Amino acid sequence: MKTVYVDGKFLPWDKAVIPVDDLAVLRGYAVCDIIKTIGGHPYCLDAHIDRLLSSAEKVGLTPVWTKAEIKKIVFEVLEKNAPMDEANIRILVTGGSSPDFFSPADNPRLIVLVTDIPALPAQWYTKGVKVITFVQQRSIADAKATNYIPAVLALKKAKAQGAVEALYMTPDKMVLEGTTSNLFALVDGTLVTPEKGVLKGITRKTVLALGEKLFPVSEQDLSLDTLLSASELFITGTNKGIVPVIQVDDHIIGTGMPGPGTRALMSAMADQVGRSCNSPSVI
Ligand SMILES: Cc1ncc(COP(=O)(O)O)c(C=O)c1O
Repeated sequence: MKTVYVDGKFLPWDKAVIPVDDLAVLRGYAVCDIIKTIGGHPYCLDAHIDRLLSSAEKVGLTPVWTKAEIKKIVFEVLEKNAPMDEANIRILVTGGSSPDFFSPADNPRLIVLVTDIPALPAQWYTKGVKVITFVQQRSIADAKATNYIPAVLALKKAKAQGAVEALYMTPDKMVLEGTTSNLFALVDGTLVTPEKGVLKGITRKTVLALGEKLFPVSEQDLSLDTLLSASELFITGTNKGIVPVIQVDDHIIGTGMPGPGTRALMSAMADQVGRSCNSPSVI
């Protein structure tokens, strides 16, 4: 059975609990981050912990741990669960117990879990995937809050339509990101990704760094019309890597096959992953 860190203690999975008056339970008030281990080593750990702490700050949570302390706990959890060659580390900072069941009382809880990584179908990468769009925006988009209710509903809808991801879109049809991924398009030879209203993915940052070696790169607003006219599209995320997108709603993108630009980036990414985070050491 896996060992979990909860609020100062290392506990077996089935004993790892938080009190019912924690604001994460009562109000959905918590932030999180997900890291992938490669060869047992957490990839881009610093970047993920930086984002966790910045997410906490953005939602008004005061973490009482330093980055070094969180890293130490992560390594202890990994050691207690070894060997975990490829796994996810899930870190949560909860709102903590609240006397009035609403206002944070500066007593957040830290949780660190290790979970298995779901295997993704190989044909996602060889044939590409379908995604759908839905009109919704994440509040405090650059914080990774644990509230994924709209995302869960949208993904259910996506799956019912044979799609693997749902893209957030503003009421005026600016496309933002997926429920657990960032979005990239090749538009007239330029690699474009939305900048505003999205979570700044760690994979997104790596792809931007790798992409700069291959194409002009632009972080800018992306309308649905532009998206549909793109020659290539793909989504990115810690667990997914780079997944080519060949269909958005009823529209086929480009040739309907993963394109050369996406494939070049996938291969650059495959060489990069496990090496330095975000700095293109390979191409
Ligand atoms: C809303 C959202 N956007 C983007 C991403 C991709 O981020 P990363 O590359 O850091 O996994 C995630 C990851 O879960 C996410 O939840």
